[in-house]
Amino acid sequence: MCKQQLVVQESAPLRGTTRLWGAKNAVLVIMASLLLTRGKSRLTNVPSSCDVWQMIEVLKELGAAVVFDHDLGVLDIDTSKVFGHSISEHRMQKMRASVLVMGPLLARFGKAELSMPGGCVIGSRPIDFHIKLFRQLGIQVTLSGNKVQAEWQSRVGDARLILEYPSVGATENALMAAALSNSSITLVNAAVEPEVLDLVEVLKKMGADITVQVPATIIVRGVQELRPIEHSVIPDRLEAGALLIAAAITKGSITIPDAPVHSMGVFLEKLREMGHVVVESCDGVGVHLTATSSPRAVSFKTSPYPGFPTDLQAPMMVAQAVAKGESSICETVFENRMIHVRELQKMGAQIRHEGMYAHVHGVNKLYGASVIGTDIRACAALVIAGLVAQGVTTVTGLDHLHRGFANFEGKLRKLGANISESRVAKSDTQSGSTCVVGQLSVTNDIQK
Ligand code: EPZ
Repeated sequence: MCKQQLVVQESAPLRGTTRLWGAKNAVLVIMASLLLTRGKSRLTNVPSSCDVWQMIEVLKELGAAVVFDHDLGVLDIDTSKVFGHSISEHRMQKMRASVLVMGPLLARFGKAELSMPGGCVIGSRPIDFHIKLFRQLGIQVTLSGNKVQAEWQSRVGDARLILEYPSVGATENALMAAALSNSSITLVNAAVEPEVLDLVEVLKKMGADITVQVPATIIVRGVQELRPIEHSVIPDRLEAGALLIAAAITKGSITIPDAPVHSMGVFLEKLREMGHVVVESCDGVGVHLTATSSPRAVSFKTSPYPGFPTDLQAPMMVAQAVAKGESSICETVFENRMIHVRELQKMGAQIRHEGMYAHVHGVNKLYGASVIGTDIRACAALVIAGLVAQGVTTVTGLDHLHRGFANFEGKLRKLGANISESRVAKSDTQSGSTCVVGQLSVTNDIQK
């Protein structure tokens, strides 16, 4: 067996214009939400990423009919014949986000059966917040070994549920479970990430009665039926952020006409603090970045929206590694999201990892090395680092990259990046199944 690797070489400043695919963290939950309806829905701007193909398999396992034109990004899903309410352990292990079908299945069938989604390298990723909210809604949740069995016992009346932490997935599952009922459910301290709000838009298009209030409160007044919809998935702010950092670090200049800058405020401000010129279009969609030739290091702390996104922590750390000065980076969302530090140190980055902090001392040069991506965003960060490293950097672990990005490397190449693909013999310790992404087949290691 062999595995793919990217061969990244020091590149000229990235220049040009590039556009975004729909947000991975919106499209997956929106696909799951279609289980609330009976009929044919159409989603557009859908990225051909492994996680989207996995969610297609989940929906097909439940009886949905799916047609995906991955070149055009058009996804047609017919949920008329959905019959199942359980997800196989095999399917759950491939993608944690499969847990997002629990809420819709409970709303539609009154029950759901699946196995624990399991953790990944960035954290144990429990679902206790999901289970707590389900139980407060009157759902009986039984855990036996790795199995999760949920069944609606008694429909709670109007209720006000307080989330101890604004969990994205737990908010989304509770929203979808409550959307088809005859109660009014208020979620306090809910997640209000742009991807959650795109789900709210979809549910409202379906006929749901949902109000979002400050501070971080979402009120769902259940209805009897929800209808199929058409929806264009919001552009991916995380893809935009990674592309902007790639342009900044190579001292380039790029335009992203569909960047959702209204939801990228803290991140864009940090780029400006570094000295980069970031111009947002007046209607809140679109950005142009002109990099400074002598970036200053900045410190930042990740936090739930609208704070600095944890999913841009790794790429932004690379920008600090070659900026002038010291940077202190604090990761508050996931307990183990610093594994990329070790890989960047192999490239000559001067980083001291202490618990939830990484202290970065900017250096003039990184050096090419063989590095391994261990999660979606870490993989993107290592590719970006290779663009400014002297010599050749080979990046493996691409199954992670392809889970969350559709052809990230191709977009960078079009902007002038020196990136090629090659295959290497796979060590016999690696296992995993293949996720066929359009013409591209990548090995999608089973998530541990
Ligand atoms: C979503 O994960 C995203 N994934 C993540 O994107 C993103 O990093 C995260 O939100 C935070 O923005 C999708 O939307 C598919 P959480 P989710 O529930 O819902 C703990 C990427 O790279 N927690 O807000 O799992 C959890 O362990 C991925 O695109 C519990 O303890 O995030 C974490 O430490 C990575 N119990 C923190 O809360 C729970 O029941 C935030 O989790 C749920 C979560």
